Amino acid sequence: MNNETNIEPYKAVGILDSGVGGLTVVREFFHQLPYESIVYFGDTARMPYGPRQHDEVRRFALEIIEFLQTQEVKLVVVACNSATAAGLPYYREQLDIPVIGVIEPGVRAAVEATQNGRIGVIGTTGTISSGAYERDIRKLDTSVQIFSVACPLLVLIVENNLVKTPEALRVTEEYLSPLKEEEVDTVILGCTHYPLMTDLIREVMGDKVNLISSAEEIAREAKEIFTFEGLLRPLNPVKVNHRFFVSGKPSIFEEIGQRFLGKPVKAYQVIF
Ligand code: DGL
Repeated sequence: MNNETNIEPYKAVGILDSGVGGLTVVREFFHQLPYESIVYFGDTARMPYGPRQHDEVRRFALEIIEFLQTQEVKLVVVACNSATAAGLPYYREQLDIPVIGVIEPGVRAAVEATQNGRIGVIGTTGTISSGAYERDIRKLDTSVQIFSVACPLLVLIVENNLVKTPEALRVTEEYLSPLKEEEVDTVILGCTHYPLMTDLIREVMGDKVNLISSAEEIAREAKEIFTFEGLLRPLNPVKVNHRFFVSGKPSIFEEIGQRFLGKPVKAYQVIF
């Protein structure tokens, strides 16, 4: 590690999720902010977050945020809808660096994309029951019709590397059939794990439906914050230093990560 990591713009971006889902956000950071170093934490030993109570998820997220702060980060990205829904304002209160979450960016993109004003939202049980998407959509547009479906099994399908199985197709068809019946033209992937199974969701929903992932929007938001606050990392030859941490065993995380990010992923286990 070089001593420039103590200078604010050289600090890393901390990204957290319950597991591999936040890698969809990491990939977008690699694309839009290639000079930024990433410190990632996947809480694989305690996933899924979706079925847990909000106060428990808040506590886990805060523990991870405290860990990320020991790694010299200048921004925390809560790349998990369940953790965002459980307490984004709460994390912000505890920290003196910016904290951003995944719900608002996806909502903005969906409201812009819909033509027929019928938006589907899929997410974990925790995210859907929080009503966070409905609230944020209504803030932007009161005329939109929203159809929300909790899809608890999808996270487990992704984490266990089962996306390409016939069971995954069957379960996805079942979850999404109400959205097809309601003729939504836009579906918010309200869980960061879902972009890891976009092909399957696309196959079920068809080509005409807009699939919205917050990843692109959230990287754009981070770029805006860095530009505005003078935190963009200068484009000089100092090498980026990405670090991945998990609370469970690293092997499946590394395998999925490598396939999805297209480069070797070495993860270190941290036990709380
Ligand atoms: N990827 C997460 C989300 O966006 C968490 C899924 C889970 O652990 O249940 O909600």
